[in-house]
Amino acid sequence: MQKRLQIGILGLGVVGCGVVQILSQERQKIKEKTGVELVITKALVRPGEDKSALATAHNFQLVYDINDITADSDIDVVVEVMGKIHPANEFVTEALQKGKHVVTANKDLLAEKGTALVQTAIENHVSLYYEASVAGGIPILRVLANSFVADEITEVLGIINGTTNYMLTQMVEEGMSYEDALVKAQELGFAESDPKNDVDGIDAAYKTVILTRFAYGLDISLDDFVVKGIRGIELSDIELAQSLGYEVKLIGLTKKVGSGVFAEVAPALVPKHHPLASIRNEFNGVFVRSTGIGQSMYYGPGAGSLPTATSVVTDLAVIAENQSDNKPAPQFASYTAKKVFADPNEVFYRYFIALELPCEKVLWQEVQKLAEQFDLSYEVVADQEIAGKRRIVFLTKAINEVQKHQFVTSVNKMDASHVSQIMKVMEE
Ligand code: HSE
Repeated sequence: MQKRLQIGILGLGVVGCGVVQILSQERQKIKEKTGVELVITKALVRPGEDKSALATAHNFQLVYDINDITADSDIDVVVEVMGKIHPANEFVTEALQKGKHVVTANKDLLAEKGTALVQTAIENHVSLYYEASVAGGIPILRVLANSFVADEITEVLGIINGTTNYMLTQMVEEGMSYEDALVKAQELGFAESDPKNDVDGIDAAYKTVILTRFAYGLDISLDDFVVKGIRGIELSDIELAQSLGYEVKLIGLTKKVGSGVFAEVAPALVPKHHPLASIRNEFNGVFVRSTGIGQSMYYGPGAGSLPTATSVVTDLAVIAENQSDNKPAPQFASYTAKKVFADPNEVFYRYFIALELPCEKVLWQEVQKLAEQFDLSYEVVADQEIAGKRRIVFLTKAINEVQKHQFVTSVNKMDASHVSQIMKVMEE
């Protein structure tokens, strides 16, 4: 049995530094549990990046060329915490091909290139683990892969972007502006290097792709579903939703409808007594409906150095544990199914819809006729005149994706009228 695993780490940013710290704190415990000592021997950094104090304190070498790690036959595991798809994809592929196990926190990479990377890992008899890629410190992927083996998952709803949840909480509870809340989330190390991915829902969409793989065994891509972020959400809509008994949250949802899957990332109204409604700041929550367990929820910090690094080091400990048997390197998610999308006629939700239209009564009457035409029942919850325009907000009864699309398109075709906000209302 191998007693020591040598690690090459790619990147010493927020998460990389956390990995160095957690590994140093927990090395002895992991050794006692697995019989294997985990040691970082090399770290890849950018030229000019001064990490010499950290390297000296933890006795590893700084390198500036990926070949110093991938071509080093003494390195058993590569930890990739650089983020983004390129060059991470090339580096991880090379490491797997050289027979090294890989642990990564990179959701962009796993969502976009996961199928090919998993195949490369299988072909090269090594493991590829990425627990930290979804919901930071919550061990949600391992739970879905292992603890639901005897259950059928029917829906996963996630608050899976810490930055936007932090921003929404600060804007609503502390009256902070959108811009200030984003700067604070960046300072606290929650946001991506380009926070566009956070606020436009792309980060949550990557995680929804990964959750779909673990929940239903199928690989979808960002082009397969609607992705909308929190940009453009008005505080007045959040306050109106609150007065109606809802919190507004950015939700990544992936749901079995008939024999297909429906996925979406968008702000949604969550009933105040739903467990997801109470999740504040950078915390994440993943709510799972399944036929056996029923409802369960997994909660914890979704971003930040130490929570994310802890998930990375747990993956390393699992690799260490695997060293003691002679079986093929276990893969993270081995369940695969045929990709089938839900029929949009069968996907039903209630909606919060805000319309802006000129004040003439006749225009609202036209909208009402469209609602009738598309069989859309609703209740008006706000009707105001603002700066010479009429803003009407209503909550609909459950309608399907086709009805919703037809209604919104028809309203937007009317002169000077448009749907300014539309959000799904989550079930209780
Ligand atoms: N920017 C991400 C977030 C980091 O805010 O959730 C963790 O994936």
